[in-house]
Amino acid sequence: MIEKKICIETKNLCKTYYNSKQGVHVIKNLDMEIYEGDFTIIMGVSGSGKTTLLYLLSALDEMTSGEVNYGERSISEMKPNELVDFRRNEIGYIFQGINLVPYLSVLENVAVIGKLKNRKNSDVVENCKKLLCELGLEDELFRLPSEISGGQQQRVAVARALINDCDILFADEPTGALNTSQGGNLLDILSNINDKNKSIVMVTHDLKAACRGNRIIYLKDGKIHGDLSLGEFRIEDLEDREQTVYNFLRKRGW
Ligand SMILES: Nc1ncnc2c1ncn2[C@@H]1O[C@H](COP(=O)(O)OP(=O)(O)OP(=O)(O)O)[C@@H](O)[C@H]1O
Ligand SMILES: [Mg+2]
Repeated sequence: MIEKKICIETKNLCKTYYNSKQGVHVIKNLDMEIYEGDFTIIMGVSGSGKTTLLYLLSALDEMTSGEVNYGERSISEMKPNELVDFRRNEIGYIFQGINLVPYLSVLENVAVIGKLKNRKNSDVVENCKKLLCELGLEDELFRLPSEISGGQQQRVAVARALINDCDILFADEPTGALNTSQGGNLLDILSNINDKNKSIVMVTHDLKAACRGNRIIYLKDGKIHGDLSLGEFRIEDLEDREQTVYNFLRKRGW
């Protein structure tokens, strides 16, 4: 068996929110490894800390203590300008709340992220158009987010996360606003990206979406409460796979 390479490692990772007098401990001394090229799924009930964990892994929020390491590099030791470069060049992120800029068109919402990488303007716009067409948004390029459907907005959010062709993609419930067929299309897109050896870490509540992963981490009370390895996704095995995932989740009280 080929040994997998770790791409992200957490050690003793903690996140406490201090909004009230009492802190809320959301992530508690979490030790975890994410492997290169994996399609890792994170599940857990609402409020179990999935989004928080994704923010910590992707350096979008500060940890309270502990470590998040990308190989030899530790996020907590990166200087502010290194963090900016890291977020820009190394990770793509599909937000749970979509987060499009309301006054920019579909094309501009994606291009604004593409331009962060300092490439030629016309190349960025061409790449954005190509990607948006692949996602079935060719007729929406010049519309505002408020003028397109929730599912279309979700696909714009996907384009924005893919435009810089990063090695790691984080996705927080990317199929949440989509119907079954749109969700299936999006999962096919993510599977294709993963086939190109990009690592994906995806949070989902959806059993079908979870089956796309090759590993499922179940989060409970700020810790890992289950870790299931699944083989490579093959549509022929879908029924068996769904049953395996269902049994795994049921045992954890999902
Ligand atoms: N900025 C914040 N300030 C205070 N508490 C927060 C903050 N963000 C999240 N929390 C709390 O942390 C806990 C975990 O939230 P998180 O958003 O990570 O959950 P989740 O597993 O993604 O939930 P869902 O499935 O509903 O998206 C919740 O109790 C939430 O209320
Ligand atoms: Mg969430």
